[in-house]
Amino acid sequence: MTQWRKPFIAGNWKMNGTLDSARSLATKIADNAQRSAADLLVCPPFPLIGTVAEALAGSAVSVGAQACHSKASGAYTGCVAAEMLADIGCSHVIVGHSERRRDCGETNSFIADQAAAAHRAGLVAIICVGETEAERDAGRTNAVIADQVRGCLPSEATARNTIIAYEPVWAIGSGKTPTVQEANAVHVSIRRGLLETASADISETIRILYGGSMKPDNAKELLAQPDIDGGLIGGAALNAADFLEIAAAAPL
Ligand code: PGA
Repeated sequence: MTQWRKPFIAGNWKMNGTLDSARSLATKIADNAQRSAADLLVCPPFPLIGTVAEALAGSAVSVGAQACHSKASGAYTGCVAAEMLADIGCSHVIVGHSERRRDCGETNSFIADQAAAAHRAGLVAIICVGETEAERDAGRTNAVIADQVRGCLPSEATARNTIIAYEPVWAIGSGKTPTVQEANAVHVSIRRGLLETASADISETIRILYGGSMKPDNAKELLAQPDIDGGLIGGAALNAADFLEIAAAAPL
């Protein structure tokens, strides 16, 4: 029996914002969060997390981070441990975003270690996977995604401590998206892979988000797909009205 997967809408603010703008954006989202049936999360840059956590206190919106290191402490200049994120009020952390795979050379095994660190700290890891345009054109989408999921999922992952975000690299920030049927088909293929490499429980109950140019005008159709359980929103998450409209499009 398929269990219910509560919709999840997360905003990835990337490297944007100031203390003032982040406080204002978070407050607007928190004030209107009850319009959504989904779990809501925002992920500001590290220096803004504390201020955003204060602005969201007592609301239905959680705060998360965009990356973490795999170790709990030590000589890792410029890095932030998952334990530090938990300490400052984070409940989730995004790991393996394609921009970090590209810019910081993050590999599947480092991403698996980050996810394991998140779990050790009591955080939910949002593991990102996605194919490039060349990989899609070569008909390799499902193989690439299966490889990333297999390589990034730590052994202690469960449907409660882990969320997967399918983000086609070519759709991020481009205004292009796969058709809703194409996106859903990749989610189905991820579930099929999890049946083999993890368990039937994880395969059926883990939430799989779609990310890449999700906007108010395409969110409803994407979120209505049976295997799309929410969205990881970049550009549109920087505007409270757009983020809330996407959140309101999540099915009850
Ligand atoms: P986008 O970004 O919504 O701006 O395409 C999504 C993401 O990178 O998570």
